[in-house]
Amino acid sequence: MAKSGRIHNVEDYRGLAHKRLPRAVMDFIEGGAEDEITISRNKKGFENIHIIPRILTDVSVRDISTTILGTPVSSPIVLCPVGLATLAHPLGEVAAGIAAANKGIISTYSSSSSWNLEDIAAASSGVKWFQLYIWKDRKLTAEIIERARKSGYQALVLTVDVPISARRERDLRNGFTIPPRPRVNQIGDLLQHFGWFYAQLKSEITGHKMSMGNFTPENVGMRTRLKMLEVVNELFDPSITWSDVAWLKSIWDGPIVIKGVMTPEDAKLAIKAGADAIWISNHGGRQLDGVSGTIEVLPEIANAVKGKAEIYLDGGVRRGSDIVKAIALGANACMIGRPYMYGLAANGAAGVESIISILEIEMDATMALMGRPTIASLDSSSVRINMK
Ligand SMILES: Cc1cc2nc3c(=O)[nH]c(=O)nc-3n(C[C@H](O)[C@H](O)[C@H](O)COP(=O)(O)O)c2cc1C
Repeated sequence: MAKSGRIHNVEDYRGLAHKRLPRAVMDFIEGGAEDEITISRNKKGFENIHIIPRILTDVSVRDISTTILGTPVSSPIVLCPVGLATLAHPLGEVAAGIAAANKGIISTYSSSSSWNLEDIAAASSGVKWFQLYIWKDRKLTAEIIERARKSGYQALVLTVDVPISARRERDLRNGFTIPPRPRVNQIGDLLQHFGWFYAQLKSEITGHKMSMGNFTPENVGMRTRLKMLEVVNELFDPSITWSDVAWLKSIWDGPIVIKGVMTPEDAKLAIKAGADAIWISNHGGRQLDGVSGTIEVLPEIANAVKGKAEIYLDGGVRRGSDIVKAIALGANACMIGRPYMYGLAANGAAGVESIISILEIEMDATMALMGRPTIASLDSSSVRINMK
């Protein structure tokens, strides 16, 4: 748990991150596409679900552990792939991996991670999934998959909601680049966040350099990392279709999770294509603005999937009770993105661990108070949907 007695929930950690990070970095983490309507729908969707409490049921023995794709885990919380995590803390994905392993949960690492996938694997003894983009260059894609296999990543999470990278206007206004190249009018803000600036500078000079670790001058032909973001944005392939999932299955024999499913139709197609799990996501509102909140589409997708694949959900999960609601409506696990970035920014690996603990404590309390003491005891009769 956090050092200060005033830090009790994810929102408190958001406040700490806000103090620690320069404006442009906080905007990069917080921001979404265009008007950020979907970001607020993700959060609002949970508010519209009412928990139905049952009384006088023995809740003295409670258990939030479960299994995800056959892996026993201490709770149904998984860390989302979040690119460029060193912006929050120089140890970035390495710190997240250590925290996930200590907490006994699964963590997913982005193709656009700051640390390379081998370094992350070496640092974390936990169960790791690799998030894949199918790049225009299939040879590069296949090479990265092979590296992930060799490094012991147990599942591939194929993100399918980025045919192109979306317009995130906060980043456009801030002139966000990797590595950051502050404008003159941002220097004052940087100096106000000197702790962050100093840690990044130290890491840049003596340790890990701000970059996207899986890409090198050799594999993407990049002569200078100053243009990294532009080069990587050019790699996204707007032509991918279900036939590319078949290609993926032909070169990867482990589980495949499809991340970015938002409709029952696509959930069925994903199962037909051989996906082991459906990851309901709108990329935390960072891609297509105007789509529904993820929890709003969960019931219809669960109804279509009919237990043929596991179902995961991310987007706006900020309380343990949100996870309880999603499980009641048919999810096997919930994934968190921004919440653990707040923990990372505030206090590195210990901050990430604290965020996971907070959500687990909240889950346990919610389940005790509603009279459903185990994951298996949660079902659709535990909640009422009150969509407005
Ligand atoms: C800063 C940031 C970077 C992200 N990078 C990736 C990425 O590289 N690949 C990916 O599949 N999703 C990425 N996501 C989306 C997350 O995996 C996840 O879908 C989203 O954050 C969930 O919503 P939440 O932040 O409200 O928990 C990113 C999200 C954030 C906030």
